[in-house]
Amino acid sequence: MPEPIVESVVAEIAAALRQIDLETVRATYWRQNEFVHLERCLPAPLVQRFIAELDGVRPAVHRVRVPGKKSGSVSYYTLRARAPAIVTLYRTPPLISFLGAVTGRPLMPCPERDPHACALYLYTEPGDYITAHYDTSFYKGARYTVLLGLVNRTRSKLACQLFRGDPQRTPVDMELATEPGTLVIFNGDKLWHAVTPLGEDEERVTLTMEYVTAQSMNPFKRFVSNMKDAISYFGFREVFGR
Ligand SMILES: [Fe+2]
Repeated sequence: MPEPIVESVVAEIAAALRQIDLETVRATYWRQNEFVHLERCLPAPLVQRFIAELDGVRPAVHRVRVPGKKSGSVSYYTLRARAPAIVTLYRTPPLISFLGAVTGRPLMPCPERDPHACALYLYTEPGDYITAHYDTSFYKGARYTVLLGLVNRTRSKLACQLFRGDPQRTPVDMELATEPGTLVIFNGDKLWHAVTPLGEDEERVTLTMEYVTAQSMNPFKRFVSNMKDAISYFGFREVFGR
């Protein structure tokens, strides 16, 4: 059962999004093959609220080192229990309709039983990284990723390659610093992306929010998705123990 939303967070997000020139964002998103980033578009006091919740869930961070990835994560299940402002951001109608307007698709949050619906990624130890990948959809529809920078005391970057696999276009490489309050919006099947390795005494934390065009997934794909989340992100107890 979803928890009540934090009304003041909804109001602050709505106000921040009203400042954005939607037409420019939408044009950039499509010019870049369904990828756009909005630098520091959420206000610092609101981001501070999310960071306070991040600090509260640090004891629940699950660290994983597997081929292609080394970092920590906190699942949606933990955020739902302990991070009301973050979960409000994820579900807030003003953000969801803004994303729908940018992407041109009616988007919805993932179902409540998806531990990856909204999650924290923590890069806190030297060499933490993730290799280049797509955020491939296991759902029956498309899946869109929205990243929010929370902590960026690092030279590590979100490295993106636009137009990969498009024979009509030359690939374009970009490196972004996900500063606090910066939003990155992309179609998971279109953007090839990685996080470059963290240096000594550095820290990078992002919130990832996944939105879909259909909430259904066939049971075999749900099993595969849960196995991937258990092994590469949140641990078996978190994914299967609830
Ligand atoms: Fe990704």
